[in-house]
Amino acid sequence: MSTPNSSIKVLVVCLGNICRSPMGEAVLKDIAKKRGLDIVVDSCGTGGYHVGEGPDERTAEVCRKARELATSDFAEFTHILAADESNLRNLMRRKPQNSTADIRLWGSYLDNKPIPDPYYGGTDGFEKVFQQCTALSDAFLDTVTGNALEK
Ligand code: 4NP
Repeated sequence: MSTPNSSIKVLVVCLGNICRSPMGEAVLKDIAKKRGLDIVVDSCGTGGYHVGEGPDERTAEVCRKARELATSDFAEFTHILAADESNLRNLMRRKPQNSTADIRLWGSYLDNKPIPDPYYGGTDGFEKVFQQCTALSDAFLDTVTGNALEK
């Protein structure tokens, strides 16, 4: 059964909220819009090191400030997508009792692979993150809209 798309609220999570999750937020928003889907997408980091900073300059698609995960996110969002297993462990550690979100590795919608941290590498790592975010956005939206069952 598919979910009415206006009720879908997705939070993409990484460590710093300056590389992977703002990229994931931008790509997922863009692909959802192209599909005509009205969903809410936000992103944050489990760490607060870069709160208030703009995204890494290599994450060129986005122009918003980093924010840290809040306890209220677990009840606010329907889906929380972790970039890697470390982010997922941090989420599970901080999950409150009233959490209603479906919390998963984003890669679990496609190939179970993490989005590797590109922070200390070159531009090619960011290209790879962009490609992964594109494939993972398609896989996520296929699943939550029920399209995956029709393929
Ligand atoms: P992100 O990348 O989790 O994809 O935003 C990182 C950004 C900053 C740091 C690590 C990862 N850092 O250690 O400052």
